[in-house]
Amino acid sequence: MSVSESKPVVHADRYAVVGNPVAHSKSPYIHAQFALQTGERVEYDRLLAPLDGFVENVQAFHAAGGRGLNVTVPFKLEAHALAQKLSPRAAAAGAVNTLRFDADGIFGDNTDGFGLVRDVEVNLGVSLEGARVLLLGAGGAARGVVLPMLERRPREITIVNRTAPKAHALIEQFAGAAGEFGCLLNGGGPEAVYRDPVDPKPYDVIVNATAGSLDAALPECDERAFGTLTLAYDMMYGTQPTVFMRRAQALGARAADGLGMLVEQAAESFFVWRGVRPEGAPVLAALRAQLAAQAA
Ligand code: ATR
Repeated sequence: MSVSESKPVVHADRYAVVGNPVAHSKSPYIHAQFALQTGERVEYDRLLAPLDGFVENVQAFHAAGGRGLNVTVPFKLEAHALAQKLSPRAAAAGAVNTLRFDADGIFGDNTDGFGLVRDVEVNLGVSLEGARVLLLGAGGAARGVVLPMLERRPREITIVNRTAPKAHALIEQFAGAAGEFGCLLNGGGPEAVYRDPVDPKPYDVIVNATAGSLDAALPECDERAFGTLTLAYDMMYGTQPTVFMRRAQALGARAADGLGMLVEQAAESFFVWRGVRPEGAPVLAALRAQLAAQAA
């Protein structure tokens, strides 16, 4: 008996990262690994949008059957404006890095802060609960991580920025949430690293959310903030440790770059789209090996 069985054709759901530039993005590799790991039928590409063509490109991708997008520089604010529904963390961040095309409209989320928290707590093993945290910077990257950090109930978050009023604005924005989570939220200009300079104790976690590492600039910060038990975390990463990481290490602290944050924000985006949570750690290990090979 001959039975001809034709396998049903199962199409993969399409996702992409949209940005300008986007050629360097590691997201396609990361999501391909997540798809293999979870068995989800996902196809993930790069989408280079012209600087004045974000919305058109998103709409065209959606019209062609795309299911969701990661959004990177410089479009995260435009994505926030485009979304018809926002997660609380995206609303707090004022920026969107994840779009999902739902039947009832475009959903915007921001998984960056969650990615940072998960990298710090799970991959690096440092609990934020009860911790004293110093956040350097008060731009978009800093704003995106405040709420996810507060949700972990640290004892204190001090936000310090070269331009003090921007730190004050963030403190004001998150004062209500800080009260809700029992966290002392304070800060200002670089002198605000210590409100009580008589007995300055090192912080448990210092996060560099300034754009300084891009041009190898070190944000001004009192050296006494760094101790041997401090985790100094730079949101940036590269083939070599950043200047901030090298400085922290010279002061005896443990330093980490933002590669794990990149992987964990991607894992959370995958979860937002698919309802399945991939393991970040093995993908992080593979990327770390690739970076080491490039550095050699
Ligand atoms: P992003 O979205 O990457 O956060 P941004 O919103 O432009 O970018 O914010 C950049 C942040 O890095 C700001 O906190 C900025 O400080 P100012 O508000 O004083 O400009 C900070 N930053 C950039 N270069 C810096 C440097 N060389 N030293 C200290 N802080 C720096």
